[in-house]
Amino acid sequence: MSITLIDLHPSPADLQQLVQEGLRRSPRQLPAWLLYNDEGSRLFAEICRQPEYTLTNREITLLELHADAIAAATGPGLVVEFGIGNARKVDPLLTALGSNIFAALDISYSALEEALSGLAARHPNTAMVGICCDHSSMKELPAHPALEGHRRIGFFPGSSLGNFTPEEALAFLRNARQLLAGGPLLLGLDQPRAPALMEAAYDDAAGVSAAFARNLLQRLNRDLQGDADPKQFRYRARWQAQQQRIEMALVSTQDQIVHLAGEAWFFRNGDAWITEYSVKYSPKAAAELATQAGWRIERRWEDPHQQMALHLLLPAD
Ligand code: AVI
Repeated sequence: MSITLIDLHPSPADLQQLVQEGLRRSPRQLPAWLLYNDEGSRLFAEICRQPEYTLTNREITLLELHADAIAAATGPGLVVEFGIGNARKVDPLLTALGSNIFAALDISYSALEEALSGLAARHPNTAMVGICCDHSSMKELPAHPALEGHRRIGFFPGSSLGNFTPEEALAFLRNARQLLAGGPLLLGLDQPRAPALMEAAYDDAAGVSAAFARNLLQRLNRDLQGDADPKQFRYRARWQAQQQRIEMALVSTQDQIVHLAGEAWFFRNGDAWITEYSVKYSPKAAAELATQAGWRIERRWEDPHQQMALHLLLPAD
């Protein structure tokens, strides 16, 4: 069992500056990755277990059902996972591919350590390589003997692409094409469906999605000496048909002044603070984006309710 961790020391963002920039925008919005401090990651794992949030289980089922067909379509190689949110997703692929090496890219060193030690226990004959970096903008794998001489197979599950802006999504796919050096990319994307179902998925009855959004205020209060009161904001998740996305926001329930990041911010009653967008990709939208980024969609595996799809992308030329 071997685990190698390579730390590229992703530069820590200047949180104060990010927050000031985000709160000066109209509407107010901060980068979605700020939701994932320890408590945010714990709450997100809990969201994935809510009955309304079907994305995770549907994707795991698809991966388990089709791993052999996927492996036959990709051919053997080094699986490179972008982000290591739920290490269980890659399990069936590693088994079907009979991989002797796996690489994961993630911004969190501790998340890599934890996920790779769990995976290594389940795949004792697979060498695990963790690369701590900003996986959303990587264009090259670091030079390391363990990574050389393999065809590369990219894996980006969880519909995480949906949390990127359209420009970021395009840049990510272009960068991934370069990093994978001619290899395929398996991309998991959630698809649009009835608005009521999607809004429930992002505003579950148990209130976990709301707690996940409110946790952003709690973490910023702690990290940037703020006084935002989560109780003075209500959580809202709504489908925006034109942009084919769910908008998640905290909406001020009164006129109030919030002190944060060294400044005072005035919120009127009803003002929204966008915490996140989650774009849903129809097969057509996914194909258009892939084409723009220099890929073509070779195959798709879709769940029986057409809610989630795994797309196998190949370089267009
Ligand atoms: C991580 N990402 C794909 C989730 C989504 O479905 O957009 C994040 C999320 N936020 C609230 N619920 C889920």
